[in-house]
Amino acid sequence: MRIFLLGFMGSGKSRWGKIWADELHIDFCDIDALIEKKEQLSVVDIFEKKGEDHFRIIEASILREQTGKEDIIIACGGGSPCFYNNIQWMNEQGTTVYLQAKPDFLLKNIMDEKEKRPMVKNLNEAELIFFIEQKLKEREPFYSQASLRVNAEELDVNSLSSIITL
Ligand code: S3P
Repeated sequence: MRIFLLGFMGSGKSRWGKIWADELHIDFCDIDALIEKKEQLSVVDIFEKKGEDHFRIIEASILREQTGKEDIIIACGGGSPCFYNNIQWMNEQGTTVYLQAKPDFLLKNIMDEKEKRPMVKNLNEAELIFFIEQKLKEREPFYSQASLRVNAEELDVNSLSSIITL
């Protein structure tokens, strides 16, 4: 079982990924954390010093390194499914689960950790809500290719095990 968690920033991919992996006694990894380790820079610094294009190349290659493990939950970055045919690749390699949430829910979560997110760190609240609405629309065609979709606003410890066959 290889599960890829997809969804916008603030949808809870990393938080729930860890909880579900513990519950199912399987491994967990976070693509952003692996990128930071490889580059020895924070995601914010990678965007600032090397640019988004570089980040997307590393993201696609780190993602493709995650086939060594069978039983694992992989929390992707919010943009991961939208570049380099990553969504097709993930669908071939495992089960993709889209954590879907409405803009107001995402806004609250993003505001808490805005500094860690290069795409939004300089936006005020009004600009941020506009950004979320626009980007969600732009990314929906990618997120909607996920094999499964859950409501990110109503998750609990059993949400994943109730929709996947172990
Ligand atoms: C991004 C989301 C971030 C991170 C980077 C770009 C995006 O991940 O990969 O800042 O394009 O939506 P999270 O969704 O974990 O915040």
